[in-house]
Amino acid sequence: MTSNKRIVLSSDHAAIDLRRAVADHISAQGYEVLDIGPTTTESTHYPKHGQAAAERVVAGEADLGIILCGTGQGIMMAANKVKGIRCGVCSDTFSAAMIRAHNNANILSLGARVVGEGLALEIVDAFLSTEFEGGRHATRVDMIEA
Ligand code: RB5
Repeated sequence: MTSNKRIVLSSDHAAIDLRRAVADHISAQGYEVLDIGPTTTESTHYPKHGQAAAERVVAGEADLGIILCGTGQGIMMAANKVKGIRCGVCSDTFSAAMIRAHNNANILSLGARVVGEGLALEIVDAFLSTEFEGGRHATRVDMIEA
């Protein structure tokens, strides 16, 4: 499979290894990866990394984002503070597909201390391979944006 979609990745220190695994996995599928770090395992603050990825998506520099921290929760909260971002934390593939299909999520958040690499990559695949269904769901997404 190939895709010309650009995906921005960011994490905190707790999720560097999983972020790199996600980068390799989706690069091999033909996605263009914009990995904005961090590059070391030094302790850092997840809000700034969530905000940075979110701003890339809103600016149109990436089509979608995947962000990671220990639980996926804190970085998701930060990303959702950026207007235009709809980010959900997923620990299962069904939710990952549904946040695209029904909620038009533009960022997926993963918890590196919650899901193993194998499941995480399946969650990523579910998220990236699902399109927004529109229709009645668009009305509801518009309500979120309003
Ligand atoms: C870092 O220790 C941890 O708090 C962070 O990765 C994340 O789980 C926060 O939501």
